[in-house]
Amino acid sequence: MFWTMSDKQKITSGKTESENSMWGGRYAAGPSAIMMAINASISFDKKLALYDIEGSLAHAAMLGAKNIISADDVAKITAGLNTIREQIKAGDFAFTEALEDVHMNIEHHLTLAIGDAGRRLHTGRSRNDQVATDFKLWMRDAFDYLDAQLKALQAALISQAEQHTETVMPGLTHFQIAQPVSFAHHLMAYVEMLGRDRDRVLGARKRANECPLGAAALAGTPYPIDRAMTAKTLGFDRPTANSLDSVSDRDFVMDYASTASITMVHLSRLAEEIILWMNPQIGFVTLGDQLTTGSSIMPQKRNPDAAELVRGKTGRVFGVLMQMLTLLKALPLAYAKDLQEDKEQTFMVAETLDLALSAMTAMVLDIKVNKAAMQYAATLGFSTATDLADWLVRELKLPFRDAHHVTGKIVKLAEDKNVQLHEIPLQDMQSVEPRITANIFDVLSVEASMKSRTSFGGTAPVMVKAAISDAKKRFW
Ligand code: ARG
Repeated sequence: MFWTMSDKQKITSGKTESENSMWGGRYAAGPSAIMMAINASISFDKKLALYDIEGSLAHAAMLGAKNIISADDVAKITAGLNTIREQIKAGDFAFTEALEDVHMNIEHHLTLAIGDAGRRLHTGRSRNDQVATDFKLWMRDAFDYLDAQLKALQAALISQAEQHTETVMPGLTHFQIAQPVSFAHHLMAYVEMLGRDRDRVLGARKRANECPLGAAALAGTPYPIDRAMTAKTLGFDRPTANSLDSVSDRDFVMDYASTASITMVHLSRLAEEIILWMNPQIGFVTLGDQLTTGSSIMPQKRNPDAAELVRGKTGRVFGVLMQMLTLLKALPLAYAKDLQEDKEQTFMVAETLDLALSAMTAMVLDIKVNKAAMQYAATLGFSTATDLADWLVRELKLPFRDAHHVTGKIVKLAEDKNVQLHEIPLQDMQSVEPRITANIFDVLSVEASMKSRTSFGGTAPVMVKAAISDAKKRFW
């Protein structure tokens, strides 16, 4: 809705809204249209509706068990909420802005349907603990969904890696050719990153899994409620320990946004690499028709739009992390309406992650590798110079610094002659270091270089195969 100045002037006097009697006896006049517009959250928090019902069912059952409301009331509330749940699932429930948020919408309709029993549901709770509970229930599912998607991407990377433990490519530092590595080794680096993401998800989920319900507005409640019971019914590990913290804590939202941001960093790095690899000048990989786009003017184009959009969407997720940090940083205890701003963009983050992870998994599975291009690139840039130096250390017992120096001279020779290291005649190498023998050529190929790196975590195929089977155990 676009508010103009005149619209605002029209409503500053306050129009009464008879349907909105939410604040009870004290409030004669309803809110002005501008008050409703700025205050209402139903347009986005209706996403919490099913969680709100779950929380209310648990709360009502507990109130009944503690004889705070009658068994008859519990039965009516339960039946009424079950009906509303079906209506919501079928899309037959009319949410209205006049009732502000998801909690009021559901309670109002419950009371319309079952009468006085509906008016007893809010005993011993407040919307402050209610919304924190709903959002944590939603967040738990969001964490589980995220974990499953991260795992699916790990599986896609591993299935590609399994086919490429012998596929040699240039490993880079400073985006300059450094040493040969296998494509599998490169992909497995991302499996590790995603493994840490999943660890963050797990940790955040665990921290979030305490139930705020029953903290009431901020101070607890005089009713003899059983918070452990509601916590258990809702699958929380325990009730939150401090009522003020219960209603004002949004660490789980910051945790989610920061976990999501770090995941987006990882996805964006991979997206960037796919984009580079697809550039015809590099030409390491191709993606099929289904995950690329053509150009409306240049018929030859195959553009990696999906990867570009994963990279491009990263900023909006970082933005939400900043938003949540800012939201909380100077907020006095306990609840303030600022906290209503925690949800809308968090939902957007979940949608973005879902899209980005789905697209990335599809792309990884779709990658076709151009082994010849990778192999050729790996031979450029004197990528086995370190192997040459290591040979001098091993065979001639040169100190590494001296070997480095000798190798530098040989690289200079190759550069002057415009050849690769393995193409330099033996006599030329011997003019730099007379004790060099023909055996040196054994270590100058990119394949030999890759195979020689057998230290734990190294790129030798035997090590990468072990890393793959280890990853399957660690991450499955
Ligand atoms: N819609 C509110 C929110 O999202 C629910 C809590 C309202 N509490 C209150 N004291 N007004 O935060």
